[in-house]
Amino acid sequence: MERKKVAQLLKEAPGQQVLAKGWVRTKRGNKNVAFIALNDGSTINNIQVVCDLAKFEEDLMKRITTGACLAVKGDLVASQGSGQAVEIQASDIEIYGECDATYPLQKKGHSMEFLREIAHLRPRTNTFGAVLRIRHNMAFAIHNFFNSKGFYYLHTPLITAADAEGAGAMFQVTTLDMDNPPRTEEGKVDYSKDFFGRLTSLTVSGQLEGELGATALGEIYTFGPTFRAENSNTPRHLAEFWMIEPEMAFYDIKDNMDLAEEFIKYLVQYALDHCLDDITFLNNMFDKELLERLRGVLKEDFVRLTYTEGIEILEKAVADGVKFEYPVGWGIDLQSEHERYLVEKHFCKPVILTDYPKDIKAFYMKQNEDGRTVRAMDVLFPKIGEIIGGSEREASFEKLNSRIDELGMSHRTLEWYLDTRRFGSCPHSGFGLGFERLLMFVTGMANIRDVIPFPRTPNNAEF
Ligand code: 4AD
Ligand code: MG
Repeated sequence: MERKKVAQLLKEAPGQQVLAKGWVRTKRGNKNVAFIALNDGSTINNIQVVCDLAKFEEDLMKRITTGACLAVKGDLVASQGSGQAVEIQASDIEIYGECDATYPLQKKGHSMEFLREIAHLRPRTNTFGAVLRIRHNMAFAIHNFFNSKGFYYLHTPLITAADAEGAGAMFQVTTLDMDNPPRTEEGKVDYSKDFFGRLTSLTVSGQLEGELGATALGEIYTFGPTFRAENSNTPRHLAEFWMIEPEMAFYDIKDNMDLAEEFIKYLVQYALDHCLDDITFLNNMFDKELLERLRGVLKEDFVRLTYTEGIEILEKAVADGVKFEYPVGWGIDLQSEHERYLVEKHFCKPVILTDYPKDIKAFYMKQNEDGRTVRAMDVLFPKIGEIIGGSEREASFEKLNSRIDELGMSHRTLEWYLDTRRFGSCPHSGFGLGFERLLMFVTGMANIRDVIPFPRTPNNAEF
């Protein structure tokens, strides 16, 4: 008999023989009958398996415990109980794998902190099943969105010699003997002897290579892992996270903002259309305003204003008695508390801030006439703060080159990038969406460690 997934079985008509396979979520009953809730990951919902104890050996029934893996044959019948339309009246049960009482996921609700300690097992919980299904759907929707717009998926390297963001928080990649590395005459580590013949790291962004793609293919996007060695132990930072970076020839900052807004709205709509069971579960369990927040974002035009206007609003708030942990003033790098004030308190909708001071943004951003700001854009979201960072790019070779000098960056590792401006330079723009930040928004999870299967954070690389 062909196995059917639980998601499918729950939609089928009663009155047929079926075969289901999955893991026991709960088992309850009395001396005549046992009810087993079986889940196979295809949906948040379980199928109820009803066992007439007169038909099964006592020993078999004893071995069916929470977490055990089963194959169940039986009749799909209309359910007597509430909560499900159909259930399986079991005629035959095979135990694939028993699960003893040391299994950490017994019936009771567990804290998110505890579940992080058993990240290898937490996908078997309702919560992580829901999150991981939503994660899959969002990844699929991202490809769908760009494919339908004629963007090409470009694979950019993970190992790089360039520091795209100039933040200096990179993980080094080496095959040198760390206890006894080769040295130059001056006594420095001799990276010319390293695997790539130079100092290399894990990438912080695929953007620089993305720009090469955009200036050839027109519109591209990347979607891959990125690595940042910043020691920020916050609920919004990972050392290894996934980023989506579209890059478009002939887009100015306005086109860039329009695309970012359309993109996020498409993804939220897709989640509501395809993951409503999972989102409803998360809404009821963790965050009663989740659904409302998601629907709210679809209705609103994102507010667009400059950094300078944003600072004025924050300064006025401070004058009116609002307390921030970090001081406010033109030139500061906005903290999450500032971003969230603008989004959650002042405007009550997503905000796109543009034209930041050049000193707090990356070298490649288009320089404004005023000489002190660049054509940056950050999309700020309720609960999250910055979800997207991007900009129009500096298209002038001279301006970009002198900015690299000003910042004392290494020309040697950026010469290939400067060729985009040397040869047929064009106006272009792009942005990066943090995939896990998006997932925090869509799932309502409060900690970024809970929207990626195996989080990497300072002092944590288990599993
Ligand atoms: O603002 P960021 O640093 O921008 C870039 O990397 C550009 N190269 C993007 C581009 O223009 N192509 O990062 C982009 C986004 C942030 O807005 C945030 O959502 C996410 O990536 N992000 C992180 N997510 C999780 N953990 C971290 N440590 C993150 N750092 C950035
Ligand atoms: Mg940023």
